[in-house]
Amino acid sequence: MPKQEQGGRETAAAKVAPANGKLGVMVVGLGAVATTMIAGVEAVRRGLAKPIGSLTQMGTIRLGKRTENTSPLIKDFVPLADLNDVVFTGWDIFEDNVYESAAHAEVLDKETLAKLKPYLETIKPMPAVFDQHYVKRLNGTHVKKGKNKRDLADQVIADIRAFKKTVDRVVMIWCGSTEIFLEPTAVHKSIEAFEKGLEANDPGIAPSQIYAYAALNEGVPFANGAPNLTVDVPAMVELSKRNAAPVCGKDFKTGQTFMKTVLAPAFKARMLGVNGWFSTNILGNRDGEVLDDPGSFKTKEESKLGSLEYIFQPELYPDLYKDLYHKIRINYYPPRGDEKEAWDNIDIFGWLGYPMQLKVNFLCRDSILAAPVALDLILFLDLAKRAPQLRSLGVQEWLSFYLKSPQTTEGLYPEHDLFIQSMKLKNTLRHVMGQELITHLGLEYYD
Ligand SMILES: NC(=O)c1ccc[n+]([C@@H]2O[C@H](COP(=O)([O-])OP(=O)(O)OC[C@H]3O[C@@H](n4cnc5c(N)ncnc54)[C@H](O)[C@@H]3O)[C@@H](O)[C@H]2O)c1
Repeated sequence: MPKQEQGGRETAAAKVAPANGKLGVMVVGLGAVATTMIAGVEAVRRGLAKPIGSLTQMGTIRLGKRTENTSPLIKDFVPLADLNDVVFTGWDIFEDNVYESAAHAEVLDKETLAKLKPYLETIKPMPAVFDQHYVKRLNGTHVKKGKNKRDLADQVIADIRAFKKTVDRVVMIWCGSTEIFLEPTAVHKSIEAFEKGLEANDPGIAPSQIYAYAALNEGVPFANGAPNLTVDVPAMVELSKRNAAPVCGKDFKTGQTFMKTVLAPAFKARMLGVNGWFSTNILGNRDGEVLDDPGSFKTKEESKLGSLEYIFQPELYPDLYKDLYHKIRINYYPPRGDEKEAWDNIDIFGWLGYPMQLKVNFLCRDSILAAPVALDLILFLDLAKRAPQLRSLGVQEWLSFYLKSPQTTEGLYPEHDLFIQSMKLKNTLRHVMGQELITHLGLEYYD
């Protein structure tokens, strides 16, 4: 179907630029999630597997009335980069190439990795910006040296500029570790304050922010897959808008929070009360090891806690949710590797206050869930950069669908309900392609 011309429903929208040429993807942190994504993209390109879990690759979008039966694939409706045009590079604090790192992560089986080895071996990390103060459980050996944080940012900018010469467009994604909990300080208030802070080695500037600053400075969109503060500060949003480099974050929404943002809206929609939600996890990958440090755990905990508070709106529904006790535990348990297991005990109550319980036991695979999320964020951020309606907005809230702790513009509460997020995403795609939005009102069928 020709783009922006389906069925006469289109409105006058500025056109999205086509996805011509190569899309360069700069991945910060070539660990379990990143290598599973990169290996998966290559497996799909070679016809070895299907891109299950990826909305950009498998999803469709309805256009017009239900009776029109028009539901093209999203990738045929909006001009997304073709997977064959995606080129990967990245940074890590360890020298392992993507094959070695994927083998270490033990997410994909040996047979699959062996088939992909010649390609995966070619992707070797550049030295990283790293400081153990921000990730206590890691001790990096493959790191940049510089006289201050400004110098380190300049080295990342040099990496970006060199890569830009080999591709047509660039997106950066943080798949690195969870840093210690940081709150915004004066150094994050404006671009000027941030740049002074880089010179002065301000402790409020974490390594993830040095990469993000470099990306945004170069007009490169940035996605934050971890719960780190990174681009969720005024200085970064200002830089994002100024240089038309869209940003989104924080923290890939994959296992337990994904389920939470499905179940909680269901209880609320039916006005069922909830007074307890206990969530616990065991996982044994490197992410689990990093989260075993209280500083990194606090960052993750904050990210995971927010969803229920926003979905339940206890201030609007005190009888149902004001006494909710919400507890989250993450336990590092090496035998499980990437095969995380999550348990939720949910204490709910119904008509006349009668109590009930629901137990959820999700035996998931962390990086198998996260890889398609990372891929979609990359492809959609590249689209946002080419969409006149989106590129200078800064935060891309329509990508909240993929994120545990969605970043919004200042003063706006985030939408956590997965189905609201899904509608928001699809309506944004319709909007940028000049198609009518779908409100689900549906009265016209009964006229
Ligand atoms: N797997 C999931 O389902 C999931 C979901 C949500 C968020 N996340 C987050 O995504 C991130 C990646 O998860 P993972 O399972 O791949 O972890 P991982 O530990 O396997 O990979 C992280 C990689 O980042 C590297 N790294 C750390 N600091 C770096 C820096 N400053 N520069 C460059 N590289 C750096 C590490 O060496 C490691 O290779 C974590 O922050 C995790 O919390 C994962």
